[in-house]
Amino acid sequence: MLTKYAVLAAAAAAAVTAAPVVEKRAAPGQADIDTVILNYALTLEHLENAFYRDTLATYDAGAFRAAGYPDWVRQRFVEIGGHEKAHVDFLSKALGDQATKECTYNFGITDVKTFVATSALLEGIGNSAYLGAAQNITNVAYLTAAGSILTVEARHASWVASSVQQGDGFPAGFDTPLNFNQTYSLAAPLITSCPDSNPALPVKAFPAATISGDVCGGKQVTISGDGVQSGQFAAFLTGLNVYYAPIGDNGSVTVPSEVAYGRVYVVVTKSGDSVSDDNTVAGPAVVDIPLSAEKAEQIYSQQ
Ligand SMILES: *[C@@H]1O[C@H](CO)[C@@H](O)[C@H](O)[C@H]1NC(C)=O
Ligand SMILES: *[C@@H]1O[C@H](CO)[C@@H](O)[C@H](O)[C@H]1NC(C)=O
Ligand SMILES: *[C@@H]1O[C@H](CO)[C@@H](O)[C@H](O)[C@H]1NC(C)=O
Repeated sequence: MLTKYAVLAAAAAAAVTAAPVVEKRAAPGQADIDTVILNYALTLEHLENAFYRDTLATYDAGAFRAAGYPDWVRQRFVEIGGHEKAHVDFLSKALGDQATKECTYNFGITDVKTFVATSALLEGIGNSAYLGAAQNITNVAYLTAAGSILTVEARHASWVASSVQQGDGFPAGFDTPLNFNQTYSLAAPLITSCPDSNPALPVKAFPAATISGDVCGGKQVTISGDGVQSGQFAAFLTGLNVYYAPIGDNGSVTVPSEVAYGRVYVVVTKSGDSVSDDNTVAGPAVVDIPLSAEKAEQIYSQQ
């Protein structure tokens, strides 16, 4: 699973570095922060909607069967796609003529297996994005609406991880928030181009970070990416915590012992005690650390 993400990140690396820096538009009638956040959410929803719509149009029930999935798996993915469409419609209606439009994308899907892996990747990123943006919303009515979407996205992620991938649908007690630029860094490589008329969002993509090896507490792994060098730090974002490890020669990193399971984002920073847009060098890289049921029982029965 790590390898798949590493490959995905690596394949996307060129696109990330080439991604345009979108500056905040300082025009009269400047969009307020809530409008920016709703358009940011809509940007992600468009991406997810197009992902399910277009990929499911390519891979029919026969393709899913050939990949070893019973018909109900594809049917549920169609249902998920329907939710994403509903989210697009909802946010577009809320934003009216300020609503950002669908872009063109390259999801790099080559078969049903990569579709499933990318679905897991995207649903997790969606969760982290809504979670991270929650603190910036000023209108509490939007907060409830966004929360209403977030919980559904969380169940999508959980269903893919448990029913489809037969792993753990809820590996950690806390999910991990991502900020705007971190989220955009993961979405940008999949975006080919957007309509010129779309409102500019104040986001930029950091260079991609690729982490390889067995990412789990105590293990030595290698992290690479544009500008990544020894003396910097790998920040492991897991739940509401961040654990730092120094980057040594050739990108070698010893994974902090606390990093044990679930969705983890790894950001390369110049600081060993804070993560901000200003000190970020590259990333995030996405890692899903599996947790077996036996191991889960062991961990949680000791608490
Ligand atoms: C969102 O809120 C956090 C915490 O207050 C702040 O650091 C960040 O700059 C805010 N982001 C935006 C885009 O306003
Ligand atoms: C993204 O990063 C850029 C450059 O550091 C910064 O100007 C911008 O405010 C960030 N965007 C958000 C939404 O925090
Ligand atoms: C780093 O990589 C270079 C080139 O592969 C190798 O010669 C060198 O021994 C490596 N250094 C360490 C400390 O592993």
